[in-house]
Amino acid sequence: MREGAHPGRIAAFPAQVSSQEATRARGTASATAPRRVGRKSTTREPIIQEPETNRPAEPEPEATRRDAGVAESARANRGWWDRNADEYQVEHGTFLGDDRFMWGPEGLDEVEAELLGAPEELKGRDVLEIGAGAAQCSRWLAAQGARPVALDLSHRQLQHALRIGGSFPLVCADAGALPFADGSFDLACSAYGALPFVADPQLVLREVRRVLRPGGRFVFSVTHPIRWAFPDKPGPEGLSVSASYFDRTPYVEQDEEGRAIYVEHHRTLGDRVRDIAASGLRLVDLVEPEWPAWNTAEWGGWSPLRGHLIPGTAIFVCERD
Ligand SMILES: C[S@@+](CC[C@H](N)C(=O)[O-])C[C@H]1O[C@@H](n2cnc3c(N)ncnc32)[C@H](O)[C@@H]1O
Repeated sequence: MREGAHPGRIAAFPAQVSSQEATRARGTASATAPRRVGRKSTTREPIIQEPETNRPAEPEPEATRRDAGVAESARANRGWWDRNADEYQVEHGTFLGDDRFMWGPEGLDEVEAELLGAPEELKGRDVLEIGAGAAQCSRWLAAQGARPVALDLSHRQLQHALRIGGSFPLVCADAGALPFADGSFDLACSAYGALPFVADPQLVLREVRRVLRPGGRFVFSVTHPIRWAFPDKPGPEGLSVSASYFDRTPYVEQDEEGRAIYVEHHRTLGDRVRDIAASGLRLVDLVEPEWPAWNTAEWGGWSPLRGHLIPGTAIFVCERD
């Protein structure tokens, strides 16, 4: 999600796909904020203790639009999530819950949505969670009697999964090269994980199809593609189109040497449908959660004002024949 998207997802769930001003704001914050040392997490346990250092403030990254390939995107995002996992979990841990399955910043959870199936059907199922972060969704799945495996590119995110706890496997790997045999899982899911960050989403979708058993289902949420055209602002200024919806040029933050340190990729709605079809999966539903009255949260570009007018999250429900 963008900043102000899904808390921290994408840097914004509220930490989702960061972009434009929102991302710049994030960069500023990380450059000037004191390091969090021994700070309490918003979840149950203290955040991982870090030794005090006198690290010099990092220079602010440049936000731009330029091409970024598969390897560059993965390298940049692994580093970004390793550096920002602590902040993400502190900022969004309460909203996410340690063992809830939230699909996005609107607050739609799997208890209500049942996109992976009825709760009684989850029991005994092998489920792969992609871009799991601290594995909150996997923890919920385990509580339903499923057998989750939580995978993430970021080692630091998975350390947070360990901190919160659970007795399911954690795997540090890239969603574009899943380290599992064909047909290993009944279900796969991803809440704002991986898909918004990868240069080749078809590669990920083909990998997911490969590791699913026939009849398996993959459900993933991403920032709704329409959001790409709007500034990441929660107020009225976030309601005017400021960029082309059709411009697929990646959003890149880069350091002084021009090395990408954060990358976000845009696909239009049609691109997503074509990616799913080309990977051999079948799209069976597209859910656009409405902003509920109870959710008064505001972060980055996510707010009740925008949420009531334009969609913020797109959830794709796919099946493998
Ligand atoms: C916005 S966070 C979402 C985390 C979690 N699903 C949640 O809802 O809090 C995105 C996650 O995707 C992971 N990610 C990004 N690119 C990835 C890739 N290529 N493969 C696997 N995980 C990736 C990041 O490390 C990060 O933990």
